[in-house]
This record gives sequence, structure tokens and C-alpha cells, in this order.
Amino acid sequence: METNRHTRRSFIATLITLPLLLAGLWRFLTPRGVKKQALLQVAVADIPVGGALAFRSERVAIMREGDSFVALSLVCTHLGCTVSVTPEGMVCPCHGSRFDRLGKVLSGPAEKSLVRLAVEQHGNDLVVRG
Ligand code: FES
Repeated sequence: METNRHTRRSFIATLITLPLLLAGLWRFLTPRGVKKQALLQVAVADIPVGGALAFRSERVAIMREGDSFVALSLVCTHLGCTVSVTPEGMVCPCHGSRFDRLGKVLSGPAEKSLVRLAVEQHGNDLVVRG
């Protein structure tokens, strides 16, 4: 009889502590939702339709096609130089990699596309996060 009570207490203690342990473990192992840092804010009207605006100090370019925007990191995916935005496309001055307006590689040595950054429109302003 005494053994049954001890077993019942152990069972109840396990029912209480096991979910707490699993919740703690889940919280420890899952990544936190960190909002990306705002790199820059720019007025929509400053970006020419069909054109681009480059921010060399932030190493970011924003392309505009009609009402849609694409923000790209200008950090070359080869060795990290700052890619230049030209009317003909984007060119890395270090080793000559070329990218299209969406950051896809046209010619190497870079093998990966430029990194796309998050763009949020807030009224008349764009916020680029990275
Ligand atoms: S760093 Fe850009 S091509 Fe090498």
C-alpha cells in the first residue's frame, strides 16, 4: 500500500516537472525573433522609376521598377569589395564580377548573387533592413 502512494506521488511530480523542463528546453533551443536593424530610410520620390539609388557608405542599392522596390547589399559575394552601380549594371571594381539589376551574377569570379535586403514602405518612405 505504501509503495502505491509513493508511485502515485512520483507520477504526479513527473506530470508537473516534465512539461516545465520541456518548456525551458524549448525556450533555450529556439531562436529569438530578432527584428533586423534599419540600415537606412529614404523617400520614395527620391528613387527614379526604372532607376536605382546607391548608398555607398551603407553599401546598399535600391532599384525601382514602377511601384516595386528591390534593395541589394553592395558587398561583393566574392571577397567583399563594394560593388559599383552603373547605368550598364553592377560591377565589382576589384576583380570584375558583374551583376544584373536583381543582383544575379552575370560573370564571375563571384558565384553567388548579391544579398537581397528587406524593404518596407511606410507612407512615402522606404526602410531598408539588413
Ligand atoms: S571582390 Fe568582387 S569580384 Fe572579387
